[in-house]
Amino acid sequence: MAINVRSSRFNAGGRRLSSRRHARSRHRIALGFPRAGDPIAIIFPRWVTIRRSGAPAQCQDRPRQREAVITGVEETAARLTWVRAEQVRFEQEALRDDALADAYDAATGSMAPPVDPAAGAALRFLAASIGARSVVEIGTGYGASGLWLLRGMARDGILTTMDSDAVHLDHARAVFSRAGFGAGRARLIRGTAAEVLPRLTDGGYDLVFVDAEPRSYPAFLDEALRLLRPGGMVVLHGVLTGPSGPDGPLRAPDPAETAVREVIQGIREDEGFIPLLLPIGEGLLTAIRP
Ligand SMILES: C[S@@+](CC[C@H](N)C(=O)[O-])C[C@H]1O[C@@H](n2cnc3c(N)ncnc32)[C@H](O)[C@@H]1O
Repeated sequence: MAINVRSSRFNAGGRRLSSRRHARSRHRIALGFPRAGDPIAIIFPRWVTIRRSGAPAQCQDRPRQREAVITGVEETAARLTWVRAEQVRFEQEALRDDALADAYDAATGSMAPPVDPAAGAALRFLAASIGARSVVEIGTGYGASGLWLLRGMARDGILTTMDSDAVHLDHARAVFSRAGFGAGRARLIRGTAAEVLPRLTDGGYDLVFVDAEPRSYPAFLDEALRLLRPGGMVVLHGVLTGPSGPDGPLRAPDPAETAVREVIQGIREDEGFIPLLLPIGEGLLTAIRP
């Protein structure tokens, strides 16, 4: 995707700038430090659509030249465009990887939506930042998040991942193996979290990643606290997805949303945790446990 940003000769009111003012703002924009009020023209040579799943950003060759004169509030839109453009570059980079692309291809449009590539990169980073050697994942799906985690974990680290769906697990196993992570690095367990988690060892894990059944997040958080060593990290995905139905006074409370909010509040208010809410993809709530 190519997005061009250049200085505009016109301000928000459509008035032509003096050559001197235009030259100054052009200089700032060229250096990458536009100031509030600098008129900016953004040219979109191609229109870009991003699928909800975070799967490959598809550039559709719908030639559509748009030019906008942006100042003040609208400048924020320009900044967001740059931020999104950087994210798209990350996504495209990730999807050059055959195994990851395979996981995203299989998951797109399925009932097991994968984490956004930006959220995947955050998972890889978080696992690497604590040198994770033992990680539990609830909700394997087609293997995208598991592969991101494996890529961040220590070389001898083991991912224990569970899913109630055998087809998802089989696909994830093939994805891991294609990426060079065999049975010695990934333990895939079929079963519901309620069945599998109680079989895992107390305090035996560095990181627990949760990406299934938001209604059960409060229960999963309790289990994660049992499984994590002191100083271990819990990461919950999809905490910023927002209401599933239209808003309004008559909207019935959504049990999934209520459960997610309960977990966010619990982590925020518990002084023992060191929390971090990452507004990436559908939202990652991460916390270091006491
Ligand atoms: C959102 S998808 C996971 C996507 C995956 N983390 C990724 O990024 O590729 C949720 C997965 O959890 C599984 N699942 C749903 N409820 C579950 C439960 N109670 N226990 C275990 N797995 C469950 C579904 O079969 C589905 O594959």
